[in-house]
Amino acid sequence: MKLNSCIAALPSGYLFAEIAKRVKAYSALHPDADLIRLGIGDVTRPLSKHVAQAMADAALGMSTPEGFHGYAPDYGYSFLIDAIIQGDYSSRGIEINPDEVFISDGAKPDVGNLQELFSADSRIAVTDPVYPVYVDSNAMSGRLGVFENGKWSRLIYLPCNAENDFVPSLPTEKADILYLCYPNNPTGTVLTFAQLKKFVDWAIEMDSIIVYDAAYKAFITRGDVPFSIYEIPGARKCAIECCSFSKNAGFTGVRCGYMIIPREVSGLCGTERVSLNRLWQRRASTKSNGVSYPVQVAAAAVYDEQGQREIMESVRYYLANAGIIRKGLAGAGGTVFGGTDSPYIWMQTPHRMKSWDFFDLLLNEANVVGTPGEGFGPSGEGYFRLTAFNTKEKTEEAVRRIAGVLAKL
Ligand code: MLT
Repeated sequence: MKLNSCIAALPSGYLFAEIAKRVKAYSALHPDADLIRLGIGDVTRPLSKHVAQAMADAALGMSTPEGFHGYAPDYGYSFLIDAIIQGDYSSRGIEINPDEVFISDGAKPDVGNLQELFSADSRIAVTDPVYPVYVDSNAMSGRLGVFENGKWSRLIYLPCNAENDFVPSLPTEKADILYLCYPNNPTGTVLTFAQLKKFVDWAIEMDSIIVYDAAYKAFITRGDVPFSIYEIPGARKCAIECCSFSKNAGFTGVRCGYMIIPREVSGLCGTERVSLNRLWQRRASTKSNGVSYPVQVAAAAVYDEQGQREIMESVRYYLANAGIIRKGLAGAGGTVFGGTDSPYIWMQTPHRMKSWDFFDLLLNEANVVGTPGEGFGPSGEGYFRLTAFNTKEKTEEAVRRIAGVLAKL
């Protein structure tokens, strides 16, 4: 029996699994260490009471004949789809049709599964550093060639670093699919309307598709930064947008997200042009029974007045933490980016230290867990990511400890 050798050939464990493994090993050796986790972007604030109440009521309702729900509609309940369209799109003047919204158990599965729609020989482009799911999921499908000297032979890398102000250049070779994530994970940086427009214009001209991961849009504070790629004219022809309730509403453990696939986005199957919306409908109805009713009710509650008030309180709390990290590390001589419109702070490692060495140093000397930049791709080497998702108190303490380490270098 033959297995998928592309999975076996992946270079190492999934980044956050690898970090968890190292932290577990450290904790086993140092059971009294007071670790502060600013590594994986997992939230710490409890759910909004209003949202949790909606979920609890729906769950209890399931024990009554009137409130019981069996299989959910394949692409999501219309009450949630309508709330999303109204709350995230119509309110910004963007027209999205109900059959262009697909509810799922999160943006990570969506961006991982989406590549099933692309042909085996599609060329993929990513910004570098990048959220590893885009790369690993395509590597698992054998699209990226071989991994040599830290790079995939068929993957097109668009470096983002301090030298280019974290603004990627357009691909110079033909890319069928380009993954963009803004506000960016991991760098915490953003693209303005004008910067994003260049990518949309490029995709239309090249007949390419942009997979736009907007999981962090709730953190945008600047007026010149789009919340949705569909704020850019023409994007309906070339872009798919993936969104999540994880970071804005604390659903990392609840699981709910959604994807927008406009009818106009299409590609070639042989000589025929086929809508990706149609292909995704076919895939979703075959492989998924959707998201549970109580979770979809909870997600819809995010959009009403009280839901919005309560979730945005948490978003502001995390943005304040990001400010604490930025200010604290800059004051300690660090060079930091992001963190103004994002929960992620991207810092240059001191003295260009290797990012895994800096990870080990902070773990051992400060008992602080971050994420080494190299785990996000070759251009992440020499950088380190910290998240603002811990509590204010632990964030302040972590910054104090990291500053102590920096002072000794
Ligand atoms: C991250 O730390 O990059 C995120 O938590 C990953 C995710 O949302 O899956």
